[in-house]
This record gives sequence, C-alpha cells and structure tokens, in this order.
Amino acid sequence: MFSSPLLISFTLLLSLPLLFFFAPQILPPNHFHFLLPDELDDLSLFHRATVASTHSSPRIVSHLGTTNPKPKIAFLFLTNSNLSFVPLWEKFFHGNQPLFNIYIHSDPSITLTPPGGVFHGRFIASKKTHRASPTLISATRRLLATAIIDDPLNQYFALVSQYCVPLHSFNFMYNYLFRNPLTSISSFSSTQLEYQSFIEILSDEPNLFERYGARGDDVMLPEVSFEEFRVGSQFFILTRRHALAVIRDRKLWRKFRLPCLNVDSCYPEEHYFPTLLSMEDLKGCSQFTLTRVNWTGSFDGHPHLYTPLEVSAELVYRLRQSNSSYSYFFARKFSPGLLGAVDGYRC
Ligand SMILES: *[C@@H]1O[C@H](CO)[C@@H](O)[C@H](O)[C@H]1NC(C)=O
Ligand SMILES: *[C@@H]1O[C@H](CO)[C@@H](O)[C@H](O)[C@H]1NC(C)=O
Ligand SMILES: *[C@@H]1O[C@H](CO)[C@@H](O)[C@H](O)[C@H]1NC(C)=O
Repeated sequence: MFSSPLLISFTLLLSLPLLFFFAPQILPPNHFHFLLPDELDDLSLFHRATVASTHSSPRIVSHLGTTNPKPKIAFLFLTNSNLSFVPLWEKFFHGNQPLFNIYIHSDPSITLTPPGGVFHGRFIASKKTHRASPTLISATRRLLATAIIDDPLNQYFALVSQYCVPLHSFNFMYNYLFRNPLTSISSFSSTQLEYQSFIEILSDEPNLFERYGARGDDVMLPEVSFEEFRVGSQFFILTRRHALAVIRDRKLWRKFRLPCLNVDSCYPEEHYFPTLLSMEDLKGCSQFTLTRVNWTGSFDGHPHLYTPLEVSAELVYRLRQSNSSYSYFFARKFSPGLLGAVDGYRC
C-alpha cells in the first residue's frame, strides 16, 4: 500500500512531463515563449556561428585581387510555400557558380515540391512560422547563422521571399555590392574592408506608436524606448559583420520574442532588424531597402500582387527606378502564375 502523501507526490511528479507536453496546446497559440525546444536549438546554432566566425576570418582584401578567393553573396530564401520563380532564379544564377550560395528556410508543416538545379539540397533545418509572431525573426536568424557557418566567404546576406524576383543581372548586383567599401581599416598584416548593409530604417511611420505598444504598455522598456524603435522592410542585404550582430543579440530578442496582445499592429520582423541595427551601427547602414514593393491599394497588410497581365519589360524597368541614386535589385510580390508571362524576361 502506498501512503497517501507519497501517492500525491508520485502523481505530481508523473504529471510534470504531461504539463510540459500539453502547455503549448492549453495556452493561447501566441505564447511562443513556451516553445523552448525551438529556442534551445537556435541558441546552440547561434553559438556555433559565433564560434565559427571567430575562428575563420578570411582575408577579403579586394575582389579585384587575383590571389584571394572572391567574396560571395548568400541568398536566403524565406518561404512558406513552393518557390514560385525557380526558372527565373536559375537564369539569374547561371554562370556565377563560385560567387553565391543559396539557403532555404521553409515552414516544415507545408508540403513543398523540392526544387532542383541550384536549389537542390539547399534547405536548412527549419521550424514553423506564423504571421504576426516572432517566428519570422527566428527563421531569418536561422538562415543568417547557417550561412555564416557554412562558408566564410559569404560576405553579404540577401533575404528574399518566394514572391521576390530579381530586377537586374547577378553581375550588376555583385559589382554594386562589392563596389566601394565604406571604410578601409588597415593594420600591418591585412586590410579589412567594411561594406555597407542595405536595410530600410525609418522612424516616421504613422502607426509606429501602436506597433511599439503591440506587446503591452512599457514592456519594451528599458531595452528599447519608443524614440529608438524603428520600422523597415523585412527584406534586406546585410554585411557579415551585421549578420553576426543580429545572431549575437540577446537583449532586444528578449523583448521582440514576446507575443503581441494587439495582433493588428504585430509585425515583429519589420521592427526587430531595423531597430537593432540602428542602435548598433546606423552609419554602416544605407537605411533604404533594395527590394521594391508596391503598397498602393494594399489590403490586410499585403502589398499589391502583380498578375501576369501587368508584367512586361516596361514594368521591370519601372520597378528598378528609385528616387535616389540607387536602383532596386528585387521586387515583390508577384503572382506565382506569371512565369509564362516572363519567358522573354532577361535577368
Ligand atoms: C507545391 O506544389 C505541389 C505540386 O507541384 C503541390 O502538390 C503542393 O500542394 C504545393 N504546395 C503548396 C504549399 O502550395
Ligand atoms: C502599384 O499598384 C497599383 C494598383 O494597386 C497600380 O495601379 C500601379 O501601377 C502600381 N505601380 C507600379 C509602379 O507598378
Ligand atoms: C518617388 O517620390 C514620389 C513623390 O514623393 C512618389 O510618389 C513615388 O512613389 C516615389 N517613387 C518611388 C519609386 O519610391
């Protein structure tokens, strides 16, 4: 016979694993801070990336130099559906093999047709993503960390989605990105070039205050004051130094990982990266995005989706143009059905 206090303790002990097992189901779905296993995997991945990067700093003296390997662009595809424009991207990458790497984060809960060619075998260990949650930040950080570990020659990290198309040739982008280093720090052993990140950083968005308060009043304090809170496109091109700053961050992540109470103002991935980089190194960032998007007539937070009828060479030329001295590199969103319409499209 069990004595009853022992029985109670025993029952309590038994129910502990059950509590952990059922907690995510019992709690509201946006309590992501309970999904500890995802975060533990991420922490170990980020740690490996930090270690990898301190042990291997390739000497990128100049891409024009003949003796050194050329730096690469890591293309990070963040998707929760089939990649829509594989043939277009194939054309874009064709002939540029040593100058890029591809990494794909794809929500594991979807059925996806694995693309072949340059995309073959480029899927990284991925987790579920949801709109209006910090899971898109995590997915992006996973892509950055994996690319940092995979190849020390990855010096730029370009985040794109399945709805993005390139507006220029690979060579155009490559030469533009590695054109002018921002500063050149010389020491007697090597010359370290500092490039610039292309990330939109804005402080004048009309809904910024509601977005700042989406997790509750004052919860972002003291790490992020409203004056420091920024917004920008989720899509960016980061230098290796900034990519590392993003995966090393714990301080801001502790706040941005909190679930939103106001889901209508919840776009964590549009705030975390611009806020962090504006605090870390505003001068090293262009503050504009290279990804064109058309918000005219947007609906439910989704921008204009170009349909096959709208697509033409003229549209591509129009989408490249910006109000500044730069030219857009990518555009979104394009309807998956338009591939036929862009047959004659030259990347
Ligand atoms: C991806 O495409 C395949 C067919 O090629 C289809 O069966 C599958 O449902 C698609 N997945 C999504 C998420 O649309
Ligand atoms: C942006 O989208 C609107 C429709 O919402 C369209 O009329 C306009 O031509 C688009 N602009 C560009 C530059 O494609
Ligand atoms: C350029 O500026 C004008 C006027 O502010 C604006 O209407 C237009 O949308 C801008 N074009 C781009 C590509 O941002």
